[in-house]
Amino acid sequence: MPWALVTGGSGDIGRATCLRLARDGYDVALTTFRNVESAEEVADKVRAEGRQAVVLRSHLGKAGAADALAEAAIEACGTVDVVISNAASGVLKPVGELDERAFDWSMGINARPLLMLVAKLRPRAAVAMSSPGSTRVLPAYAVVGASKAALESLVRYLAVELAPSTRVNAISAGVVDTRALTHFPDREGMLADAEKRTPAGRLVTPEDVANAVAWLVSPEAAMVTGHTLVLDGGWSLTA
Ligand SMILES: NC(=O)c1ccc[n+]([C@@H]2O[C@H](COP(=O)([O-])OP(=O)(O)OC[C@H]3O[C@@H](n4cnc5c(N)ncnc54)[C@H](OP(=O)(O)O)[C@@H]3O)[C@@H](O)[C@H]2O)c1
Repeated sequence: MPWALVTGGSGDIGRATCLRLARDGYDVALTTFRNVESAEEVADKVRAEGRQAVVLRSHLGKAGAADALAEAAIEACGTVDVVISNAASGVLKPVGELDERAFDWSMGINARPLLMLVAKLRPRAAVAMSSPGSTRVLPAYAVVGASKAALESLVRYLAVELAPSTRVNAISAGVVDTRALTHFPDREGMLADAEKRTPAGRLVTPEDVANAVAWLVSPEAAMVTGHTLVLDGGWSLTA
């Protein structure tokens, strides 16, 4: 069976993605940084779908970690058919309070792994998780937004330079109520505003994102590459 590598499979969007790919017939290698227990739970759910699962631990902010992860994935899976670069972190502060460490941390975890993993593993398809902050100005989001802009740029370069054997795309999801939002200032206000301003009438769910991933890696999306898919129920059209 084909293997999918999902970074940040211990997180909320990562979990939904792992389970959807398992249901679509993928064996799943998922990564965790701190929440090993959550990752093991996801792996058990993947196995309950009749698929193989392995948990790989990696701090993707460390230099060399993505290369080491690629090697670990090759050892565990043989060939990796699909890479989902989903793990993210970042420093949420106004520009006046940011330092070099904040910039390097956000870039290192959010943008660098896509380049290293895809260049090394040469999967058939890859999907990176971006966000609207790559093109819009969100409160306290400067270095994360810059890292997501870098990610979307890398998607385009990888898509062209590795074509036709590898397709690479990004998903830019609107607000999804995940654990990540607990780090944002005014989480409740952000959720209420997003819900009110979303023409589709509800927030994006982790499963919505997983469905888009499933389509982007499928043969149905054979002619889609280098693209950032906006998945926000129309939210970005209304401001
Ligand atoms: N939630 C939203 O509204 C939203 C909107 C647009 C885009 N996104 C994007 O969707 C993706 C998933 O986000 P989420 O909302 O599901 O967040 P989440 O639940 O907080 O998951 C984040 C994942 O990243 C991993 N991670 C964090 N720091 C890491 C590090 N240093 N090294 C390796 N892995 C690390 C976490 O691993 P551990 O927990 O094991 O440490 C976790 O699996 C992110 O790329 C995010 O930017 C989210």
